[in-house]
Amino acid sequence: MDSILVRGNGPLNGVIPIAGAKNACLTLMPATLLSEEPLTLTNAPRLSDIRTMTQLLQSLGAEVASLKDGLVLAMSSHSIDNHTADYDIVRKMRASILVLGPMLARDGHAIVSLPGGCAIGARPVDLHLKALEAMGAELDLRDGYVHAKAPGGRLKGAVVEFPFVSVGATENALMAATLAKGTTVIKNAAREPEIVDLAHCLKKMGAQIEGEGTSTITVQGVDRLHGATHPVVTDRIELGTYMLAPAICGGEVECLGGRMDLVAAFAEKLDQAGVSVVETERGLKVSRKNGRVKAVDVTTEPFPGFPTDLQAQMMALLCTADGTSVLEEKIFENRFMHAPELMRMGAKIDVHGGTAKVTGVSKLRGAPVMATDLRASVSLILAGLAAEGETVVSRVYHLDRGYERVEEKLMACGAHIERIAGN
Ligand code: UD1
Repeated sequence: MDSILVRGNGPLNGVIPIAGAKNACLTLMPATLLSEEPLTLTNAPRLSDIRTMTQLLQSLGAEVASLKDGLVLAMSSHSIDNHTADYDIVRKMRASILVLGPMLARDGHAIVSLPGGCAIGARPVDLHLKALEAMGAELDLRDGYVHAKAPGGRLKGAVVEFPFVSVGATENALMAATLAKGTTVIKNAAREPEIVDLAHCLKKMGAQIEGEGTSTITVQGVDRLHGATHPVVTDRIELGTYMLAPAICGGEVECLGGRMDLVAAFAEKLDQAGVSVVETERGLKVSRKNGRVKAVDVTTEPFPGFPTDLQAQMMALLCTADGTSVLEEKIFENRFMHAPELMRMGAKIDVHGGTAKVTGVSKLRGAPVMATDLRASVSLILAGLAAEGETVVSRVYHLDRGYERVEEKLMACGAHIERIAGN
């Protein structure tokens, strides 16, 4: 397994292009199953999770071609000849559950393995299943698989009310509703930019959707959807991660394609910490020039709140802040696995349940550490860039699921970072 070696090397200065959003692309790709005509995505990120979704769609009979060095995904689902999403692929990535709604809506039946994915607490899919049941699906859970059928071959419009916000369940319900008979109202829907992006793409395919970006989405089902071409929205998590690079190391970095509306709550916290974020014509420019950042308290929430996917990286920053910060994780249980690794680098962190108290130290020290999940791995790289000496982050296969060319992007700003090939 590969490792990444980083050496604290002073301020970072330069320009980092931000890719299309992994999480948007992972829900836009299954949308191809809703139509017999081609769906083409541009601005796709080049990531192992995207390759896993490609494999999954291909296993169902869809054609997926990766063009222009992976930036364009040309998909066609005109003949879906297999309706079973196999455990061997699904276990690699939770987002695989997103093929369930589209397959069921299009052909009236689907069998999907229950997913595995990032080891961040119990992550059930009950809300996905309840939404589809509300639309008339008959579900049977057997041998680790969900066997789903729509009586009469078609789902029915319904009121789907979520007890709490779920991004994935909203996406599954939204895709399924586009081809259901009648009107579906999704209440307490997720408002994430990835949901809005999905709705925009579905509308280009002929879906009738209103209210995306608010907590109530209304979908008028249609008989069929057609082909479309759609650019994937900017990755706000990659954006936030690279915004933290100059915040933690000092210097000035312009993130190309960055938009304030994608990261407003996060940028506000950076501002409170004393980091400057300004909009430019090309994106967002972030700089820290005056000494240590200040401690700030952070609570993760569904969008438009502070994203859970930036919590680990923010913790890396707060480890060197002046004062004590309290970080509250409200979306996932057990999402502080990076804390003990940061402590190996000299960080002072006290974790109690879903709360972490971080007392800033003036300098972290390099150490061998282990990546435990996707966002944790990049938080350790950020911490290593700000530490004295050398940090080796092992198990970086998590990193490749969500960050393309991370070494290249950081090196272009003056970071000392290299990949060590594993056996
Ligand atoms: C998506 C993102 C992930 C991000 C998360 C929250 C993708 C591919 N992944 O994950 O990076 O961290 O949103 O912003 O887009 N839950 C249930 N039952 C369900 C579904 C969810 O109890 O059926 C719980 C989860 O365990 C979690 C909370 O709801 O505690 C929110 O999860 P959800 O928004 O569904 O996250 P994902 O869609 O899996």
